Amino acid sequence: MTDRVVALTGAGRGLGLITTRILLDQGMTVVANHRSPSPDLVRRQDKHPDALHLVPGDVGEEETAEALARRAKEIGGLDVLICNAGIAKDQPLVTTPARDWDEVHRVNLRGAFLATKHALRQMMRRRYGRIVYVSSLAAVQGNPGQAIYAASKAGLHGLSSTVAQEYGGYNVRSVVVAPGLLDTGLGAALAPEVAQRKIDRALLGLGGAEGVAATIAFLAGPDADYINNTVIRADGGLAY
Ligand SMILES: NC(=O)c1ccc[n+]([C@@H]2O[C@H](COP(=O)([O-])OP(=O)(O)OC[C@H]3O[C@@H](n4cnc5c(N)ncnc54)[C@H](OP(=O)(O)O)[C@@H]3O)[C@@H](O)[C@H]2O)c1
Repeated sequence: MTDRVVALTGAGRGLGLITTRILLDQGMTVVANHRSPSPDLVRRQDKHPDALHLVPGDVGEEETAEALARRAKEIGGLDVLICNAGIAKDQPLVTTPARDWDEVHRVNLRGAFLATKHALRQMMRRRYGRIVYVSSLAAVQGNPGQAIYAASKAGLHGLSSTVAQEYGGYNVRSVVVAPGLLDTGLGAALAPEVAQRKIDRALLGLGGAEGVAATIAFLAGPDADYINNTVIRADGGLAY
């Protein structure tokens, strides 16, 4: 059990919701951002009225990042930020409208940048911080049909590595988790042939979001304090 304060984006459903549940079960206090109304999250709050704090808002807007950091400060100070909110608009690159590029980058990359910026100010003052970026295997090796998604997620790797170096002197660590195909939202929405191609290449097949959420929760906890500036692949092991 640990009493850390963790801010997490995109907690309304999927991987973010499962991670929230695990963090709460481990005794952490969670400041959970959600965009749409989430009955699941509200039910969680009924169960953990003191430990779960909801911050609605679009991660692409700076006010959301400010509100997340402010709420964490009010309840004792931010220890961990998990940038999980993400979207995809999969299609062949040659027919991708520029507005789809902009929107995916606005949520996946600008959202993480803003959350990081406002979290870091607090972490620097506190001389402690840990940031976990939820990326994707697509960022590591690309994936046909996912050019804009892969590019936006790859941006997180540069962001994370730079944060680790620029703020290491303030005792801030930063890591990326790159899941393979999961059984939640974005994974479930992939075209069947794209999904099957990924499943065929993973030694362990389709990933369970539950297991990846547990990895993220581990990285948020004190036992992961010596893990820094790296990409943790949670992809079931690639066969080729
Ligand atoms: N599922 C996979 O196979 C897979 C594989 C690799 C990486 N990932 C990554 O894992 C993370 C979670 O994915 P998932 O499978 O849980 O997907 P999901 O079920 O679609 O959940 C995505 C979450 O992000 C939130 N979100 C989207 N845009 C937002 C915005 N502008 N502001 C605030 N929140 C926003 C969504 O909120 P709403 O409910 O309002 O839409 C939702 O709660 C993503 O970053 C994804 O890229 C997933």
